[in-house]
Amino acid sequence: MAFVVTENCIKCRFTDCVDVCPVDCFHVGPNFLVIDPDECIDCTLCEPECPANAIFAEDELPEGQEIFIQLNAELSKKWPVITEVQDPLSDADDWNGKADKLALLEK
Ligand code: SF4
Ligand code: F3S
Repeated sequence: MAFVVTENCIKCRFTDCVDVCPVDCFHVGPNFLVIDPDECIDCTLCEPECPANAIFAEDELPEGQEIFIQLNAELSKKWPVITEVQDPLSDADDWNGKADKLALLEK
């Protein structure tokens, strides 16, 4: 199993999560972060750190978020590792909680 970053991270990317990960398994894209499922050790530390509540255990994903299992696996092989907190994206607070952000994911 692994933890998964889901839709509400898109266009927010607060990055608080990367600060606590003991195995540096977060990877960063233009407007989203993903977790490498092959590196995640299920420590649970990142889940409560996300201001957007976007991180879930793979077997506790909210309905409709299942596609993010594949997206985290796929994009983590393509995007670079991120280990330090960055500023959130502009308007992150406005995008936090907005529905239907998947179409806005930049790969
Ligand atoms: Fe990293 Fe732990 Fe979160 Fe997995 S559960 S991404 S190992 S902080
Ligand atoms: Fe995204 Fe939450 Fe991390 S918004 S960058 S999963 S802190």
